[in-house]
Amino acid sequence: MNGLKNKIEAHNATAAVIGLGYVGLPLAMEIVAAGFDVIGIDLDTNKIATLKQRTSYILDVPDKSIAAAVGAGKFTPTADFSALANADTVSICVPTPLSKSRDPDISFILSATEEIRKYLHPGQLIVLESTTYPGTTDELIVPELERSGLKIGSDFCVAFSPERIDPGNAKFNTRNTPKIVGGITVECTEIARLFYSQFIDKVIPVSSTKCAEMVKLLENTFRSVNIGMVNELALM
Ligand SMILES: NC(=O)c1ccc[n+]([C@@H]2O[C@H](COP(=O)([O-])OP(=O)(O)OC[C@H]3O[C@@H](n4cnc5c(N)ncnc54)[C@H](O)[C@@H]3O)[C@@H](O)[C@H]2O)c1
Repeated sequence: MNGLKNKIEAHNATAAVIGLGYVGLPLAMEIVAAGFDVIGIDLDTNKIATLKQRTSYILDVPDKSIAAAVGAGKFTPTADFSALANADTVSICVPTPLSKSRDPDISFILSATEEIRKYLHPGQLIVLESTTYPGTTDELIVPELERSGLKIGSDFCVAFSPERIDPGNAKFNTRNTPKIVGGITVECTEIARLFYSQFIDKVIPVSSTKCAEMVKLLENTFRSVNIGMVNELALM
C-alpha cells in the first residue's frame, strides 16, 4: 500500500465519491479544493446532468465551486461505475433510510459495494461514510470485496469514517467538523487517516471499524436524548 500513501501525500491520487447528496457533494468539493482529481458517481442521472451543466443543487455548495471544479477538469460527475477503475480512493456516501421496522436500509450500501468489487484493484482504499449499525463494514463490505480474489490489508484497505456534517450550519462545514476513522487493519486506519487529513482539519483515528460505527451511533443517540429531554421540559 506504499504506492497509495505516496500518491496521497503528493496529492496525485484520484478520489471517487459514490452518492452525491448532502454528504457526498460537499465532500467531493473539499477533496477537489485540496488539489485531488475527483470522480463523482450517482445513480440519479438528473443530478449528474445538473453538475455537468456546472450547477449545484445543494445549499452548502455554491454554483461557482461546481463550475470551477468541472471547468478545470478536477471534478468528473458520472453515472458510470466503470470510472472506478481509475480511482485510488472510494468514499461511499449513499443513503441509509430507516425501514418500516426502524432498521437502516443497507441495500444502497450493498449495491454500491457490488459495483466497487467489479473494479477493485490493488492499492485501493475504500471508506464507508453512510450511517449504519456497528459491524456493517467488516461483516458485509469486506467479504463482498474479497470475492474479487484480492485480500484485505495486503491488496486493498477498508475503513469506516462516519459523516458528521450538519447541513446549513454556518459555523461547521465538511472541513472543520472533526472526523473519526477506524480501519480493518492498523494500516487501513493509517491510510484513511492520511487521506482525510489532506482536506479535513482534525482527523481522529480509533481502534476499529466497529468502534468508528459505534461513535456515530452514540453521537446520534446523545443528540436524540437531549432533544427529547428539552421537549419534555418545554411541555412542563
Ligand atoms: N444529510 C445529513 O445531514 C447527514 C449527516 C450525517 C450523516 N448522514 C448520512 O450520510 C449518508 C448519505 O446521506 P445524504 O443526506 O447525503 O443522502 P442524500 O439522499 O442527500 O444523497 C445520497 C445520494 O446517493 C445516491 N445513491 C443512492 N444509491 C446509490 C448507489 N448505489 N450508487 C450511487 N449513488 C447512489 C442518491 O441518488 C443520492 O443522490 C446517509 O447514511 C446519512 O444517514 C447524513
